[in-house]
Amino acid sequence: MFESVTVGGRGKSEVLVLGVFQPSSGKDRLALDRQTAGLDPSSSGGDALKRPEATGEAGSVVEAYAGKPLRSGHSRVWILGLGKKEGLSTDVLRSAAGNLGRRLAASKAVSAQIEVLPCCTAARIDAGGAGSAIGEGLGLIGWVCDQFKGTGGTKSGRKKLAVKGPTERFNAGLERGLGLALSANIARTLSQTPPNIATTSYMADRARRLARECGLNYRLFEGQALVREKFEGLINVGKASENKPCMVRLEYSPRRGRAARGVASRPLVLVGKTMTYDTGGLSLKVNNGMVGMKRDKDGGCAVLGAMHAIATVVKPSRPVVALLAIAENSISDEAYRPDDVLTYRNGVTVEVTNTDAEGRLVLADALCWACEKEDPSAIVDLATLTGGVVVALGSTYCGMFCEDDRLRSRIERAAAAAGERVWRLPMHDEYRELMKSPVADIVNSNPNRKAHPIQGAAFLSYFVKEGVPWCHLDIAGVHVAEANKGCFIEGPTGWGVRTLAYLAEQDSAG
Ligand code: BES
Ligand code: MN
Ligand code: ZN
Repeated sequence: MFESVTVGGRGKSEVLVLGVFQPSSGKDRLALDRQTAGLDPSSSGGDALKRPEATGEAGSVVEAYAGKPLRSGHSRVWILGLGKKEGLSTDVLRSAAGNLGRRLAASKAVSAQIEVLPCCTAARIDAGGAGSAIGEGLGLIGWVCDQFKGTGGTKSGRKKLAVKGPTERFNAGLERGLGLALSANIARTLSQTPPNIATTSYMADRARRLARECGLNYRLFEGQALVREKFEGLINVGKASENKPCMVRLEYSPRRGRAARGVASRPLVLVGKTMTYDTGGLSLKVNNGMVGMKRDKDGGCAVLGAMHAIATVVKPSRPVVALLAIAENSISDEAYRPDDVLTYRNGVTVEVTNTDAEGRLVLADALCWACEKEDPSAIVDLATLTGGVVVALGSTYCGMFCEDDRLRSRIERAAAAAGERVWRLPMHDEYRELMKSPVADIVNSNPNRKAHPIQGAAFLSYFVKEGVPWCHLDIAGVHVAEANKGCFIEGPTGWGVRTLAYLAEQDSAG
């Protein structure tokens, strides 16, 4: 929607945005608080409040035309509804900012001054947190991906938007929120990129470029290196495609000064399923089940976006390692087949029962490697793993599997801060039993159709060393939005980028 969104801009902003609460009861009047009203000497905002559509409902934007130059020096004054005082949260601010962004883009505005701080203070939201949520909302709604539009249509013109608020803390928050949104938007653009362009080597190159730009260490395993490292899942899942599989490892290291102060150095390890396309393999997808499978790389895209946020915004005092398991699940005479048996580097053998349960096969490589080589403080994997999680939770919650109480509560806190919802699904030895194979140790999918999302997690658990805190996030329901709502338009959401960034931020305090 915007060419860019930045903080600042000289002089008076074009649009003055005043926050207002929706009356809590019939007795209360819709009115600006005194401090906010004082910013609008021509009381054009007060006039807007008299309009019948002015309700203060969260995310509503109302304007009255003054018909003469405004005394405040702005050319327009808008009222932004923040909902009822008792309901105001960073989530409300974030999605109200999404609506505000839509209106700013439609009005072709280039600068806005956002005055919601008195309302935030009244609701006990600090200036930094408020600025960050609004920055995230504006940055997320600002996302455009029109590089695949050609001469057959019209591209809409985009403006550069400058925003600012009343205090330095609020503006620093805006800056941070816009930074996080930028990272999420990297993931969204990659998700949107079609599979004939976003091939396996394209994803690796993109990771390499990002690493160079933000000072991350980059390492690529491909060809013989995959064989040497016994990345059995990647080798087999990726066999049929002319786009060869690979594993990318990125590493963020805190600046020396911080590490030297004795902060523990065991890394947080982020793992992303990066299937550039999932045809299902020889267990081919049917009935249009394939459409949209370019987004089967979204776990990896989110991890990449998160590494960008970690390196450019969060800068935690602990190391973070990312592993992207990149492959294309295709068909050819060289394809891996149902009945094949794979032997992983931790010794576990897998009977392939369904080549469409491929994500877990490549994630297993990354999990083994992480446990063996990285001495992780915790592992979090993100994957569009099962259609079953979409059936269970829809697009409202991400399915979360985590048996470590401490890590789980950290992730719940991070997700809440990011406004990305997670819901815990169960694990039990009975589910692990479901995965037993009569031929090898385990199967990659039990054909009985029971508890598919949990089967995925149960399978993965065979590749995580006892005692390592681990969380599996099945993002198959939340990685795309179907409607134009809140801070998203229909399309990829970059789910996980901000949750992972907030998670890594918990390591900044030390
Ligand atoms: N990538 C799919 C899961 C998926 C489905 C993601 C729909 C997004 C939307 C995954 O590789 C897959 O095919 N899963 C199978 C697993 C089954 C064969 C055990 C599924 O969910 O049907
Ligand atoms: Mn599949
Ligand atoms: Zn898949």
